[in-house]
Parts: sequence; structure tokens; C-alpha cells
Amino acid sequence: MTGAASEPLLQVRNLSKLFPVKGSPFSRTRETVKAVQDASLDVGRGEVVGLVGESGSGKTTLGRSILRLIEPTSGEVRFDGVSITALSARQLRPYRRRMQIVFQDPFGSLNPRFTAERIIGEALDTHRLARNRAERRDLIVDLLEKTGLGAAHLSRYPHEFSGGQRQRIGIARALAVGPDFVLADEPVSALDVSVQAQVLNLLRDLQRELDLAMLMVAHDLGVVEYIADRVIVMYLGRIMEVAPARALYSNPVHPYTQALLEAVPRPDPKARRSRTLLKGEIPSPIHPPSGCVFRTRCPIATTECAEVIPPLEETAPGHLKACIRR
Ligand SMILES: Nc1ncnc2c1ncn2[C@@H]1O[C@H](COP(=O)(O)OP(=O)(O)OP(=O)(O)O)[C@@H](O)[C@H]1O
Ligand SMILES: [Mg+2]
Repeated sequence: MTGAASEPLLQVRNLSKLFPVKGSPFSRTRETVKAVQDASLDVGRGEVVGLVGESGSGKTTLGRSILRLIEPTSGEVRFDGVSITALSARQLRPYRRRMQIVFQDPFGSLNPRFTAERIIGEALDTHRLARNRAERRDLIVDLLEKTGLGAAHLSRYPHEFSGGQRQRIGIARALAVGPDFVLADEPVSALDVSVQAQVLNLLRDLQRELDLAMLMVAHDLGVVEYIADRVIVMYLGRIMEVAPARALYSNPVHPYTQALLEAVPRPDPKARRSRTLLKGEIPSPIHPPSGCVFRTRCPIATTECAEVIPPLEETAPGHLKACIRR
């Protein structure tokens, strides 16, 4: 069964993920890390959505919950019109093929004892995508070439590749099975700055060529600026702002997004706005602030912000913010 073409490929509704953790050594109570709370988002067919926020804001947890690599505590994920939240492992299989992940650490995510041929080949084997050995090899060589490597790399092991080349293999593995959606979880943050742009450009070119939908996770708004159609900003487990990329960079409406943007280095010093650097530390996700989770670091918070959880509301077509102040 497939959804209507007009419907977003991915629809996430009210997704929360709480991790039970041990409380302090003096108490027996269990506490919970509120890693993601009440997140709703869409990713359209062929659309690139950036997911941005500081470390610990819940980006990886949200991404992995969407793929059911971890089980969400509550909420629903619909993929191509089908709710995948309650599917059994067997029912989930075809969706596992269609939703792939590119990991942050290209070393840790590739088996060091396997050649590039085997790493990519196993993805093909899992979903029985090659009819015979010759076809399998052809597919693997084709994938290596698509990602800027080649047949000469077939029999090499991960340690024989540079970081950038390893990430190309990670990308080839994800694309081997013909996904329609790719979660790219900080795909370049572990790489040398000198190769980050190359790998990002490769991802963007492949995304366009294959018309992939993509959720691209990053710490920093700068990384997704040239690749994302829309951007989602998270803070301490909650979505703060969602907007088309151009609107988000030119007219950020949430004070958290404004602070994040001011941290992005700009080539033109005149484009630099007055600095409202974030004050203080990120609070603990075990005891997030009441009301708006950002209020303890917000330059414009009032007492009302401690009482109301700001709903994510549209301020302009497609531009949403969770802030009661403006
Ligand atoms: N398995 C787990 N058990 C307990 N807490 C967890 C677990 N996984 C993540 N967390 C916590 O959930 C919160 C969100 O973590 P997450 O890794 O999703 O953030 P992130 O935005 O991806 O951060 P980073 O930018 O550092 O990758 C953090 O406070 C983290 O410590
Ligand atoms: Mg992460």
C-alpha cells in the first residue's frame, strides 16, 4: 500500500522519547531523561529537511525513533501513508529498506574486518537485490563510482581509506538498497574541515539525482544552509521553529534560532547582527524548565513563559514558532 503522492512521505506526530535512568545514589526513584517531547514534523517526497540544535537537544533520538532504531515512548510515525509505529519486525522489513541512515562516525559504523565490497554487498544481500554474483559486483562498482570511488577500492578495508572515503562507503551502503528517505545524522562532523564540503556536495548531488527525501542533522545552522529546503530547530527535546530555509536564515522568529544564527560565521561582517549570545548552560533534560524549556536562557522571557508550554504555531505560510512572546 502506498500513500497519495500529494501526502508528505514522512509524517511524525507528537513523538516523545523518555529514557528511564537511575536517580541519585541516595534515592531509589527512577528518573527520566526527556530526550524528545511532542515532536511533529513532515518530510516531503524528495525534500531535504535540516534538523539543527545544540548537543543534547534530541536530534539523534528523534531521528532514530523515526526509523524505529529505538522505540518511541509515544506518538506516531507514518511513512508513505502507513503508520509504522506498531508494525512487527517482519512487517517493518520493507520500510527498513526504504528508510536508510548515514551515521556520524564513518569509522565506528563500518565493520573493520570487511572489505568495501562486503560492506556494500551485505546491504544488497539483506534485501535480496542482486540476482547473481556478477550483478552484485556490478551494482557495488556502480555504487562506488556514484560516490566518487571505484572498482579499485572493492577489496580494501576501512582502515585503508581516509575519513572522507569511509563516509563515501557509508553513503554507498545506504543508497545500495534504493531508499526513498535517508536520515543523515551529522554526516560530516567527524571529518576534516577540508573534506566536509566535498562530502556534503556529494550528498546533495545524489539527493537530487535520486530524488531522495532527507533529514539532515547538524549542530550548526551553517552546515545545512546550502542543502536544506526547510529547517527545524530543536532545543532541549522540543521543536522551537520550523521554516523554509530562506525564511529561517533571513527572518528567524524564535529567540533561540536568532542566537544560533549569530553563532554562524558570516563572510560579510556587515551582515552580522548585534550579538545576543546565549547565556548560561543548557538545563538538565531530566528536569527541564517548566513552560518554555528555553526561557532560562532567553533574553525576552517573562513570568508567563514559566507557565505555558508554547504551542508550535504558524506565523507565516510554512513558518512555525513555539514562542508566546512575538
Ligand atoms: N540511551 C540513552 N539513555 C539515557 N539518556 C539518553 C540516551 N540516549 C540519549 N540520551 C539523552 O537524551 C538527550 C538527547 O540526546 P541526543 O543524542 O538525541 O541529542 P543530540 O541532539 O543528537 O546531541 P548531539 O548533537 O551531541 O549528537 C541527551 O540528554 C542524552 O544524554
Ligand atoms: Mg546526535
